Amino acid sequence: MRGFIGGFVAALVVIAVVIFVAVKTGSVPARADGPLMPGEKWASRTSLSATLAREAPKPPYPFTPTDQDIATGAKLYVQNCAVCHGTADSTANAIAHGLGVRPPQFAKHGVDDDPEGVTYWKIEHGIRFTGMPAYAKSLDEKSLWQITYFLKRAPDHLPAAAESIWENPSQVAPPTPMPAEPQTRGHGGTAR
Ligand code: HEC
Repeated sequence: MRGFIGGFVAALVVIAVVIFVAVKTGSVPARADGPLMPGEKWASRTSLSATLAREAPKPPYPFTPTDQDIATGAKLYVQNCAVCHGTADSTANAIAHGLGVRPPQFAKHGVDDDPEGVTYWKIEHGIRFTGMPAYAKSLDEKSLWQITYFLKRAPDHLPAAAESIWENPSQVAPPTPMPAEPQTRGHGGTAR
């Protein structure tokens, strides 16, 4: 029994050393366009499904959208999401092509068949190991539902005002105006 436990501990130590060396030598892929590690896709998909089953909001949902909400969702989508997921006539841009896990282009592959709670959760928390960001810190709950219901109706069942934004996204102003010139911080600070 003692020999068995000793062997077991030795095996754990060897595994820990192998993982440490793999990380320290850069053998664990660090590049966005690197190959996936064995089992990486299975592990991330399986964990995402289990997490969604546990955490995604279930009906009845706390928000019922008007057409105006869906138009606001379209605007927020253009500002925050279109750069990766595209709009009506766009093709995948350099950012979409550069991500290891490609963002679906919603003009072709929408999420209108997903439950609203699942889409809401993905926007709120993002998806680990992919470029999909979490928006919980930057958009309030109402905005998250407005985008969710916009995606539920896109690409083919949008009310007129949302459809117009989806077809002509250039009518939407950028989300956060960039400063015109680099700003210098006060004494002791660094310019950025
Ligand atoms: C930097 C790029 C990027 C941005 C910006 C981005 N996403 Fe994503 N998104 C992704 C990627 C990559 C995936 C694919 C993840 C995967 O396959 O698991 C994804 C997946 C999704 C999915 C799940 C798609 C599916 O088929 O299940 C939804 C819904 C989604 N994004 C909505 C949004 C919304 C809404 C916004 C803006 C509020 C947004 N995304 C912004 C990269 C992005």
